[in-house]
Amino acid sequence: MKLGRLNHIGVVTPSIPESIAHWRDVMGATKIHDPFDLPAQGVKVCFVDTPGANGTEGSQIELIEPLGEDSPIHGFLAKNPLGRQHHVCFEVPDIHAAKAEFEAMGKRVLGEPRIGAHGTLIFFVHPKDMGGMLTEIMETPKDH
Ligand code: CO
Repeated sequence: MKLGRLNHIGVVTPSIPESIAHWRDVMGATKIHDPFDLPAQGVKVCFVDTPGANGTEGSQIELIEPLGEDSPIHGFLAKNPLGRQHHVCFEVPDIHAAKAEFEAMGKRVLGEPRIGAHGTLIFFVHPKDMGGMLTEIMETPKDH
């Protein structure tokens, strides 16, 4: 497994506008992207940039709000009404190689690689196989 950059931390929230205010006013975030809908995933998302050291590219916070009645995160939000950290996402150079490597180690990959919020292929690995952490694996965008 070729571990790459920590791309983002996913945080489920009951309200993206309220979370934007928190990240801007409490945490001092200065680059907050426009929220957008991912209807196929049943979520609305918004990325907040966290700067890297010495001008390098940092990571992001992915704010995630339910979209529609069938959103898969309604249950998570019911258990965590204030919102909560939901997943971590690491980049890899080759998504299909990474999937094969996780599976060879007996880790449960949830579904086939699909296009994620950054427009590159992603998959999730079951938290019970990952020390309790739902883990998103994402192919590094080609323009990086
Ligand atoms: Co994510």
